[in-house]
Amino acid sequence: MKKEEHTIKPWGGRFKEPTDVFVEAFTASVGFDKRLYAHDIAGSIAHARMLAHVGVLTSGEYEAIVEGLQAIKEEIEQGRFEWKVALEDVHMNIEARLIERIGEVGKKLHTGRSRNDQVATDVRLYLRDEIVEIQAELTRLQQNVVLLAEAHVDTIMPGFTHLQTAQPVTFGHHMLAWFEMLKRDAGRLSDCAARVNIMPLGAAALAGTSYPIDRSYSAELLGFTAVAQNSLDAVSDRDFVIEFIAVCSLIMTHLSRFSEELILWASAQFDFIELGDSFCTGSSIMPQKKNPDVPELIRGKTGRINGHLVSMLTLMKGQPLAYNKDNQEDKEPLFDTIDNINGSLRVFADMIPAIKVKSDNMREAALKGFSTATDLADYLVRKGVPFRDAHEIVGRAVNRGIELGKDLSQMSLKELQKFSKKIEQDVFDVLTLEGSVAARDHIGGTAPRQVASAVAQAKQWLGIS
Ligand code: ARG
Repeated sequence: MKKEEHTIKPWGGRFKEPTDVFVEAFTASVGFDKRLYAHDIAGSIAHARMLAHVGVLTSGEYEAIVEGLQAIKEEIEQGRFEWKVALEDVHMNIEARLIERIGEVGKKLHTGRSRNDQVATDVRLYLRDEIVEIQAELTRLQQNVVLLAEAHVDTIMPGFTHLQTAQPVTFGHHMLAWFEMLKRDAGRLSDCAARVNIMPLGAAALAGTSYPIDRSYSAELLGFTAVAQNSLDAVSDRDFVIEFIAVCSLIMTHLSRFSEELILWASAQFDFIELGDSFCTGSSIMPQKKNPDVPELIRGKTGRINGHLVSMLTLMKGQPLAYNKDNQEDKEPLFDTIDNINGSLRVFADMIPAIKVKSDNMREAALKGFSTATDLADYLVRKGVPFRDAHEIVGRAVNRGIELGKDLSQMSLKELQKFSKKIEQDVFDVLTLEGSVAARDHIGGTAPRQVASAVAQAKQWLGIS
């Protein structure tokens, strides 16, 4: 096949033979990077405006370019744009179409620029917008978690360590533990956003450009807070992608742990909650089933996001400066992370208000498993018994309870006094669930009074009343 029969490449000048057809498809990224089109066009418009500002383009040329780019944007959005694999990526597809539409002047857009700084700029612009969406979903989830906590500041459930009944806690307190995790996630996401918002444009291929460009002007036009300070680093850096996926991995890890609890609690064995019908599915064979598919799927998706983090770290670890084609492989993990984190946060936020809390079952479960044993030990300490001795005494009382099939609060005073003469009638105040949680009355404790104040603070932080 003669070269003329192939799409002419923007870089075709030094080549004698056309690209192998399979290689063309193999190296193309347009199939997935076309989602950058709006940011590619915004970047190009700012670049052209900067070139006109410094006198490299005339204002007439600038206007023709902007008009052409805006028309192309419309073509894309109306589904009239023909993406060509032969034109490799989103950048060359749009540039080639610009030249087709406005002629010679279109060829001037790429002055003082390379696809290397262009793609790095596009990805940062795109990610910057996506982070805003993700932040909104994360906030919505936090709000719903806090509202659920607020409705249950004094609902008592068993608290667990090692998944064994440990001490009674309030369900509101438990929910606020999730709020704290999500709050750290929100902080990490804004830290990451600040480092995403740095402009590589102007680095050109790797060394900068000989045109009198004004990078601060382009940065201002595009809303970047700073200009990347080293052109080699600017085109090769993908730390911001790694950092973003790392933040998402941690968010997913939190959602996965949260999911695991919801799944356990929704089981017939725990029976602490019922998930909304619209977040569950049935079984095609077992008519009684109501499966917690949404939390299960989120738990599952955590694996793929963690995988993307490892992909990105591995992608970068062997690359010499500056740009290498390897970097094209950053997009699919990044895009997939964005899609899945958005979807997971959204469905989680929707699922929370649809949870039915079975307070009576939680309370009943808290009454089992000797959850107030520590309270009895603390009671003895207050009566002058050293803590280690108190621990031993209560351990023996628990053993007796197991034999009798009774919780400590159900044992008679006489039975309890067999283990220590210090035990008196007032012991029953501390052996109740309410007495136990109310006693943990300090910042970060599970007492309803503290939980109510933590809810108020969380609502203030979220700006809701
Ligand atoms: N499609 C490429 C990417 O995603 C754009 C940059 C290509 N630059 C180059 N010199 N081949 O990284």
